[in-house]
Amino acid sequence: MVNAQILTENLNLWFGTNHVLRDVNIPIYDKKVTAMIGPSGCGKSTLLRCFNRMNDLIPEAKIKGKILMDGDDIYKAKANVTEIRTRVGMVFQKPNPFPKSIFNNVAYGLAIQSKYSKSEIRDRVEKSLKDAWIWEEVKDRLNESAFSLSGGQQQRLCIARALANNPEVLLLDEPTSALDPQSTAKIEELCLDLKNKVTILIVTHNIAQAGRISDYTAFMYLGELVEFGQTDKVFTVPQDKRTEAYLTGVFG
Ligand SMILES: Nc1ncnc2c1ncn2[C@@H]1O[C@H](COP(=O)(O)OP(=O)(O)OP(=O)(O)O)[C@@H](O)[C@H]1O
Ligand SMILES: [Mg+2]
Repeated sequence: MVNAQILTENLNLWFGTNHVLRDVNIPIYDKKVTAMIGPSGCGKSTLLRCFNRMNDLIPEAKIKGKILMDGDDIYKAKANVTEIRTRVGMVFQKPNPFPKSIFNNVAYGLAIQSKYSKSEIRDRVEKSLKDAWIWEEVKDRLNESAFSLSGGQQQRLCIARALANNPEVLLLDEPTSALDPQSTAKIEELCLDLKNKVTILIVTHNIAQAGRISDYTAFMYLGELVEFGQTDKVFTVPQDKRTEAYLTGVFG
């Protein structure tokens, strides 16, 4: 039995009067890949953003319920949001490097914490770039602009940036939907490698991708977590008719 690192308890979220997440209870297991699938607008990105309190930035968002991370509610009154965001890194659909050099994209988040020496920062940047499988491609051009990289390289740079803080969890919101098949394959393989170091939660519209890389699959529909289980089980013997319909392409 694997331990859940994160557990939501009756998580509800509203944007104004729009009830977007409804009593979601989901475990996110330590050092596994969990894929979140479901039709457009069902609340996948919103749920993902709850895990690093990114919805706090949206004034009309209201949250009820708990998210326990290692047993501690990240929504409790005294929670340290900055610390949560270093423990839970995030990568978005479109690669969004800073308008800085390749090196400084990864170094920036470390430098502003002013607790690392220059050589520690250099070491961490190199390690993060290696862990994100992009070091070999950039090691001779670290001072060039991040925008000089291809889309797939930019996305791996964003993964390196997220890894620089040594997060426990990595949230990926459709990280390959803007990429070509080759760059996509590379990031899928990278996820399989990274899960030895970090817990991964990935939103994807690509059902085959969920099948290839995830240990657990969560199917969401209209704000509800309809089904959660081991990916091979969810894919072969879905318990809910709506999961089956989605997986067989009846709607989506
Ligand atoms: N910033 C926001 N302000 C208000 N409503 C929002 C906001 N972001 C999302 N919503 C609403 O919340 C609901 C869920 O949206 P969400 O983006 O989580 O869906 P999704 O499953 O990620 O969809 P997609 O697959 O298209 O990315 C939708 O009704 C959407 O309109
Ligand atoms: Mg989304």
